[in-house]
Amino acid sequence: MFQTVTKALAVLTISTALLSTSALAEPISIKFSHVVAVDTPKGLAAEFFKKRAEVLTQGKVKVELYPNSQLYKDKEEMEALQLGAVQMLAPSLAKFGPLGVKEFEVFDVPFIFDGYDDLHTVTQGPAGQKLLDKLEPKGIKGLAYWDNGFKSFSCNTPIKTPADLKGKKMRIQSSKVLEEQMRELKSIPQVMPFSEVYQALQTGVVDGTENPISNFYTQKMHEVQKNMSITDHGYLGYAVIVNKKFWDGLPADIRTQLEVAMKEATDYANDIAKSSNEKDLESVKASGKTEVTMLTKEQRAAFKTALLPVQDKMASRIGQETIDSVRQAVGAKK
Ligand code: LMR
Repeated sequence: MFQTVTKALAVLTISTALLSTSALAEPISIKFSHVVAVDTPKGLAAEFFKKRAEVLTQGKVKVELYPNSQLYKDKEEMEALQLGAVQMLAPSLAKFGPLGVKEFEVFDVPFIFDGYDDLHTVTQGPAGQKLLDKLEPKGIKGLAYWDNGFKSFSCNTPIKTPADLKGKKMRIQSSKVLEEQMRELKSIPQVMPFSEVYQALQTGVVDGTENPISNFYTQKMHEVQKNMSITDHGYLGYAVIVNKKFWDGLPADIRTQLEVAMKEATDYANDIAKSSNEKDLESVKASGKTEVTMLTKEQRAAFKTALLPVQDKMASRIGQETIDSVRQAVGAKK
């Protein structure tokens, strides 16, 4: 009798312990780090993903967002993802070269896309998927492309012709194609993490930069740049990536729910990108701090001509096959 009671008590204790472990089961945590402000296409899409992921998984997943380089800067965040210190990032496509996936620099080729529609034929089609697949040997899974927009040049002196950038120190992202782009304009490229750009402009470490307006405005670059010309000469967008081991190790049902959340967040990101940049352009103009020049068709064409050699010079780095698949997707003729 005594033995039976002891056994029953033991069973009860074990099952209570099991019950409380499962009731208190820790949610799966996804740390999502990025370098831009919350009120940008990427920042807002990350918030959207967090909400949908937590709802669809009924709280089994918790997404922790770390915007504005508060956790890691550009280069560090890639390393942190590979080490598993964070699970999700959305770096600019211009930042995959140092990882050894140089093909992504095709997105940096000046004037290769004539607008968002052109671009989507790549990012939402087989050519874009093929590029994402190249990340897998690096322990990274590419989930989606999120838009930001088309870049403009800013500087402390007016920019109306390519010659206006001659001799200027220009901050760029870590892409060899962007380096070549600046060299074609006879300016001096300086690779620098995004988080350091404001200060570098303020202190004169660099004279100018290039970015979509949403990044320019939300980092307050208009406070430290006298001129900006709407050149729309190149694209800046993102690949949303996860640590592959983490992703493959998720329970299948959770992974499916996260895929749905990502699909919704991608539609949202690509919906708001254009209007978000347009809104911020109005804010830059209204600030009265940066003189915004809308280039004429002829002025913009002069930049296109000046930057045309970049594609051929960089073909061996990017890979002709990748360039051809992008050109084929956008239907461009050489
Ligand atoms: C930059 O470094 O200029 C951009 O890549 C920042 C970003 O993530 O949009």
